[in-house]
Amino acid sequence: MKVETLRWFNNRLEMVDQRILPAAFEYLSYYTAASVAEGIRSMVVRGAPAIGVAAAYGVALEALRLSQLLPPCRGKVGMGVESLSLDTSTPSLTLPLHGGGDSSVDFKTGMEAGFTVLAASRPTAVNLFWALQRMRKVWEGVATQSPQEIAQRLLAEAHEILAEDIRINKTMGAHGAALLKDGARVLTHCNAGALATAGWGTALGVFRSAVEAGKKISVIADETRPFLQGARLTAWEMVQENIPVTLITDNMAGYMMAQGEVDAVVVGTDRVAANGDVANKIGTYMVAVLAKRHNIPFYVACPLSTIDLSIASGKDIPIEERSADEVKGFRDTHWAAEGVKIRNPSFDVTPAELVTGLITERGVVLQPDVQSIRKLMADVASS
Ligand code: MRU
Repeated sequence: MKVETLRWFNNRLEMVDQRILPAAFEYLSYYTAASVAEGIRSMVVRGAPAIGVAAAYGVALEALRLSQLLPPCRGKVGMGVESLSLDTSTPSLTLPLHGGGDSSVDFKTGMEAGFTVLAASRPTAVNLFWALQRMRKVWEGVATQSPQEIAQRLLAEAHEILAEDIRINKTMGAHGAALLKDGARVLTHCNAGALATAGWGTALGVFRSAVEAGKKISVIADETRPFLQGARLTAWEMVQENIPVTLITDNMAGYMMAQGEVDAVVVGTDRVAANGDVANKIGTYMVAVLAKRHNIPFYVACPLSTIDLSIASGKDIPIEERSADEVKGFRDTHWAAEGVKIRNPSFDVTPAELVTGLITERGVVLQPDVQSIRKLMADVASS
């Protein structure tokens, strides 16, 4: 089954509502940068590459809206698009679009507000900022054209970012699949699948590619407290594709490794620093330490857009702290003692020394460090 996590449909962005999976599979529609930002913040869409693709469409939607190329909203609209309590200083919603004044100035101001609201949606996944920077560059390249022409160019770029993400995942998948032996039992944490990307997935893309290459592999999915991306999303994706999957709670990983039931670990990432330190879903660091202890290779599927050379080491990666409600319970059920102090850091950093290899679309970087990452990025820049 091919999951289209995000799709352009009838002049609007549609995103699978990942908060209600696997109980229901439903698309929500998006028409503005602010509503896409809210979709990212509230986890309708999540996973580093998917967040980047959504942000690119958010910019394109804002340009279409400001240049009056969007038809009126119809269908099931993403949370917040009508009710979103946008700060009245958000000029994109209050300025006249045309007539009465210089519409190119209004367009520019509205677009800047769109970029700002998108950049504030989530802090850790660098793909968000990567996509915004790429869209800004495209905008700058056609800034002298009419708002309508700019909007069409930005929409074409968003389509390209989506298509490129799937191509990259497939290339990365082939590199990663070569690392897994036939019959491998592979543990993963969180969801780095089709749902976390435009399609195919990064870590789960490696599993899909291994299966496509004829290897029999089986997946062990960590539940991934507190948001349960493993139990709800990874397990669902693997079941859909008949890839054997076993769900465990996060605290069972050490036992499974000690029993000799894990041959490799493959996870995704939200940001890799210049020295190879890896930020990923909270709990990944724990898995990496355990893997080292048990001599199990620990691989990170990492598109180049996730490498952030401006950050020297993992300690400078911004770590999102999410609502205490996510730890207190799930949805309407609360189990934590009332009044207890709660922490909810959503990501952690795995030091490069625990990473066996970064699987990128340019091949596998074994034992990543400052030199190997610098060389990889220099090779990319010169090609
Ligand atoms: O909070 P989330 O669900 O956005 O976190 C997702 C992860 O940590 C993924 O492992 C990461 O983004 C890589 S996705 C290919």
